[in-house]
Order: sequence, then structure tokens, then C-alpha cells
Amino acid sequence: MTTSDTEIVCRRLVGRTAVITGAGSGIGLATARRLASEGANVVCADIDENAGKAAAEEVGGLFVKVDVTSPEEVEALFKTAFDTYGSVDIAFNNAGISPPDDDSILTTGLEAWKRVQDVNLTSVYLCCKAALPYMQRQGRGSIINTASFVAIMGAATSQISYTASKGGVLAMSRELGVQFAREGIRVNALCPGPVNTPLLQELFAKDPERAARRLVHIPLGRFAEPTEIAAAVAFLASDDSSFINATDFLVDGGISGAYVTPL
Ligand SMILES: NC(=O)c1ccc[n+]([C@@H]2O[C@H](COP(=O)([O-])OP(=O)(O)OC[C@H]3O[C@@H](n4cnc5c(N)ncnc54)[C@H](O)[C@@H]3O)[C@@H](O)[C@H]2O)c1
Repeated sequence: MTTSDTEIVCRRLVGRTAVITGAGSGIGLATARRLASEGANVVCADIDENAGKAAAEEVGGLFVKVDVTSPEEVEALFKTAFDTYGSVDIAFNNAGISPPDDDSILTTGLEAWKRVQDVNLTSVYLCCKAALPYMQRQGRGSIINTASFVAIMGAATSQISYTASKGGVLAMSRELGVQFAREGIRVNALCPGPVNTPLLQELFAKDPERAARRLVHIPLGRFAEPTEIAAAVAFLASDDSSFINATDFLVDGGISGAYVTPL
């Protein structure tokens, strides 16, 4: 059973305002739905206008078109959230890319390296920098930055800039969590294992051997559903996780704990 099978009755986020980047798709979209269902005002930020708008409409939230690599647009995003709802309580800095030209270090060019660093790592720096002053004034806030299990585990199927960017997100989140803890602000890195998204489905439908090579490492024997990642974000966003800070919060089905998995 996954969280998608259960009726969500938690209302832990009533009156809180959440900014979600990459809210138009995948983990961001599932999280927009989940945080809205828990009572939060949700600001859906995405570079994809159609997807972001649709997400905001569905959850009764606000769409803001943002390229997370732009300092001005990121500043404006958090200002809009504050001006509209009066607070910025939750920042889920989640937008990210994993393009095919980011591959082995031997074949990945500097342009691809920099593009991935910009979207996956510099964006998190910009979002945290923009969100923190609002949270400092409130004396309250929860920042969740999407890293990945590849921040703590190596893969022979390398995406070198992606992996390095997620390691950066993890280290930055830890440091911010320590620096701002006594101001009532928690910062955690979320480290999902592989998630059953359309991209992954397409890739593995074409190449079942590629899927099998990965699934053998997951004790649960399947990929995560986006709703299962969203449930973890809702927990980290809520006061139920009030003593969880500066962590690498793994939601990986046990991959990182496994040696031999069940047959
Ligand atoms: N899917 C997985 O298996 C998996 C596993 C671990 C970590 N992650 C991480 O989770 C996050 C979300 O992944 P997903 O699978 O839901 O991806 P996705 O591709 O389904 O969604 C990402 C969203 O980010 C948006 N986006 C991309 N570039 C942007 C930019 N410059 N500015 C604003 N928005 C932008 C896209 O338009 C899209 O809506 C990413 O950081 C990813 O690295 C994913």
C-alpha cells in the first residue's frame, strides 16, 4: 500500500504558505497536491507555464513563472508569495534537470556541466537566500531542498554533474540547517531514491534490462511513487518533524542500506 491508496486526513499545514519550485511535474506536482490537501497556501513555481498554471489551478494556489537560475526571478517569487499570503513558511526547492548530455565525466562537456550546476545547485542557493530573510523575520520556517540518493551513493551509470550538484545541495542544506537552527528555521535535504515518473517509465519501457539492473538494488523491489516522496516533504514541512534538522533525509526504499536484496 502506498500513500496514494490512503485517504489523506492530516491538516498539519493550515495557514502556512509553501513555495514549491518545479511544481508543474513529478515530485513537485505531487507535493503541491499533498501540501494543499494539508491546508497550505501553495505557490507553484515553474519555468513551464502550462504545467505550472495547471498545477496551481488544480490545488487552488498561485502560479508564478520562474526560471530558478535567475536571481531576480527567484527574489520576485518569494516576494510574491509573501505579498499574497503574508508569510513564507515552507520552501520546497525542488526544480532540477538530468539531461542526456550529462553523462560520464569523459564525455560530458563544460557547457552541460555548468547548465546542470546552475539549475540543480545554484538555484537552491538562490532560493534559500531569498526565503531565509522572510523566515528570520517570522522566527519560523522549514526549507526542504531536493537532493538525491546519488548524493551519498556512487553509480557506474554516471551523470557526473547531476551527482556533484546533488552532493552540493546536501552539504549546503546541512550547513544552513546548522546556521539558522536557533532562529526557528530548519533546513533539510530530501534524498529520494528513483521515482516512478513518466521519464523513467519511458526509459525503462524501452529497455527492461536497464530497469532490472536498478531494481535489483532496491529491497522493496520497485521505484517510489511521487506521492510517497510528497508524504515525506509534508512531514518535513510540518511541526511533526520539529527536531529533524540538517539531515540527509533518505526516502529510498532501503537502497542505501542494502547489500544482498531479497530474490
Ligand atoms: N525522479 C527521480 O527519480 C528523482 C530521484 C531523486 C531526485 N530527484 C530530484 O527531484 C526533483 C524533481 O524531479 P522530478 O522527477 O519530479 O522532475 P520533473 O522533470 O518531473 O519535474 C521538474 C520540474 O522542474 C521544472 N524546471 C526545470 N528547470 C527549471 C528552471 N530552470 N526553472 C524552474 N523550473 C524548472 C520543470 O519544468 C518541471 O516541471 C529534481 O531536483 C530531481 O533531480 C528525482
